[in-house]
Amino acid sequence: MRAVDGISFHVERGEVFGFLGPNGAGKSTTIKVLTTLLQKTAGSVTVDGINLEKDPSAIRKIIGYGSQEVSVDDDLTGRENLRLQCMFHHLHKADAEKRINEILKATGLEEAADRRAGTYSGGMRKRLDLATAIITRPKLLFLDEPTTGLDPQNRVAMWEYIKDLNKAGTTIFLTTQYMEEADRLAHRLCIIDNGKIVAGGTPAALKAEIGADVVQLALPDNGAAADRARARQVLGPVAGVQEIKDYDGGLMVFAKNGPSLVPEIVRKLDDVDVHITQISVSAPSLDDVFVKHTGRKMRVEEVTPPRRMVFGGRRRRPM
Ligand SMILES: Nc1ncnc2c1ncn2[C@@H]1O[C@H](COP(=O)(O)OP(=O)(O)OP(=O)(O)O)[C@@H](O)[C@H]1O
Ligand SMILES: [Mg+2]
Repeated sequence: MRAVDGISFHVERGEVFGFLGPNGAGKSTTIKVLTTLLQKTAGSVTVDGINLEKDPSAIRKIIGYGSQEVSVDDDLTGRENLRLQCMFHHLHKADAEKRINEILKATGLEEAADRRAGTYSGGMRKRLDLATAIITRPKLLFLDEPTTGLDPQNRVAMWEYIKDLNKAGTTIFLTTQYMEEADRLAHRLCIIDNGKIVAGGTPAALKAEIGADVVQLALPDNGAAADRARARQVLGPVAGVQEIKDYDGGLMVFAKNGPSLVPEIVRKLDDVDVHITQISVSAPSLDDVFVKHTGRKMRVEEVTPPRRMVFGGRRRRPM
């Protein structure tokens, strides 16, 4: 089995490039190849004009890497963790101390700087890990799921910090499982699933590709095949309906003027005895882009609830 297969993309200098995909999609594998930690079996990689095969150590000098598993030393203080990193990179002591103070402040770890990292909260450990990745001021920063496991408040703080780093000139390649994270941070992104890139572009372009509202119909028991078939049959011909896609919980109807179609959709489904547990209408989101390209939903956890109009559950009509 191949963890990633035939993927191709380029990242522009100065941008935040997102790699969005579910568990096991191949995000970490890709990032490990790009950061020279894992050997690829085929293909070529160039980073800032440097060929990965020919000169991996030159690449290592210009990149920073925040791994998915936080790699701070629990027995050292935050400050000592950063010092260690500076030593690895042969930074001069005075320069290093100055940078360490700056970075501790920027990541909100100033007060905890002289405490053992083992006493830090999950969010603090993630920030310390990021601090160690950027202490060398890399041109290009790889972040593998920088906010997974953080609570919403810490996640938003991390987003702001990543944005600031980018504004200060750092090119960032980041992987995420969160649609909202990719939407907010990435200038351009790829959606990766089962080791393959299924879609790519700016978040706006990806959403615009859908070109319609999405009416999501949740069906009982996640939609029996017969229900799905009857629903497709009656909804297909409805004026404005462009496409009907299956997702794991039911059907997604892509349609112009989605909200105005709701009564008709409900009537038609009732006519053929297809019951809906929930119906919602939304402007296209990256979530819908993912469903459209893979037929599955990614996980639903989001920081802010999606702006959907939800219409209450429908019950079987009394016979
Ligand atoms: N060392 C390994 N040996 C065998 N298979 C592996 C190894 N590392 C990863 N894989 C497999 O390769 C695929 C891609 O894994 P990868 O870790 O790149 O996914 P991911 O997108 O980072 O997922 P997650 O969001 O869970 O971190 C998965 O099917 C995984 O089981
Ligand atoms: Mg991973």
